[in-house]
Amino acid sequence: MKESKVLNLALLTMKNVTITFKTSRGDLLAIDDIYFELNKGETLGLVGETGSGKTVTSLSIMRLLPFNAKISGEIFFDKTDILKLSENEMDEIRGKKISMIFQEPMTAFDPLFTIGQQFSEVLLKHENVSKEEARQRTIKMLKFVGIPEPEQRFNQYPHEYSGGMIQRVMIALALLTNPELVIADEPTTGLDVTIQMQILNLMKKIQKTSNLSMIFITHDLGVISKMANKIIVLYLGKILEIGTVADVIFSPIHPYTKGLVSSIPTLRTNKSERLYSIPGNVPSLNEIGKGCRFYSRCPVRMDICKDKTPQLSEYNSGHFAACWVANKNKVG
Ligand SMILES: Nc1ncnc2c1ncn2[C@@H]1O[C@H](COP(=O)(O)OP(=O)(O)OP(=O)(O)O)[C@@H](O)[C@H]1O
Ligand SMILES: [Mg+2]
Repeated sequence: MKESKVLNLALLTMKNVTITFKTSRGDLLAIDDIYFELNKGETLGLVGETGSGKTVTSLSIMRLLPFNAKISGEIFFDKTDILKLSENEMDEIRGKKISMIFQEPMTAFDPLFTIGQQFSEVLLKHENVSKEEARQRTIKMLKFVGIPEPEQRFNQYPHEYSGGMIQRVMIALALLTNPELVIADEPTTGLDVTIQMQILNLMKKIQKTSNLSMIFITHDLGVISKMANKIIVLYLGKILEIGTVADVIFSPIHPYTKGLVSSIPTLRTNKSERLYSIPGNVPSLNEIGKGCRFYSRCPVRMDICKDKTPQLSEYNSGHFAACWVANKNKVG
């Protein structure tokens, strides 16, 4: 983190970002004062259970939050605060410099147009290319992500592709304009295990062959450990832990991260133990109190945890956790 400041490598900085939703039940604090940096060529894994705010975070970077959202803080992309850009300026960045691979690819495509038409439209919008050049670029990209007979596939509609295929096409679309940042929101959820592996391998290939930065979102810490350099553990809109893969997976600090790690079969060292699962359910956003958000489920909670929110504190260089218990052991 220090190094990136000196060399100024950060491509994206989320600075004290807070997102609230106006609802009939009152205001919901979906993202509470998060801060992180993403360097060029780095993959950041964003992990958290359902409702933790992963998608909301990514939509904020695309400036695609729903109308009832209110955002404060700063989001620097290439040193520009994108929250201050006009809609036209943002339109230049979205889908060109920052692109997104969505959770449900079928819904991301228009069923009424062929894949070729939809790819060409993006290229014609963002780049000064002819129709034929757009066709060639599309075919090349479909080939890159492993779509057989891309010339024929160019003229097909989304429903003519299988689930695994359409996810590859979604990835191809996200890469089409050589973006600097790709946000992949649960790109393998809902796919069967074999296809999931193929998609992850494809994304690994992309990481190796380009210098793009990636935010990889999932609730599966096992998947993240294979894909990311750095991990953020999110819980009810708060960052509970942040560090390298080695830090977070092999030396977790927060009781929540410890729970997540020991509930993943492939990460456990002692395979004979019963698979652990974190007791209780994630409370809803309007149930949380003023203390630590993990309080209701924490196996080692103390009194202070109920009343006061712990701040992130650094344990090793770049390894931060927000936990009163860990903090007590650190100091004492
Ligand atoms: N338009 C909205 N109005 C009100 N609340 C919303 C809205 N969109 C999202 N939320 C709330 O914001 C919180 C974070 O949602 P988000 O979709 O980011 O979670 P997530 O971590 O992506 O979960 P999942 O793993 O299920 O995809 C949730 O409590 C959700 O209900
Ligand atoms: Mg989501």
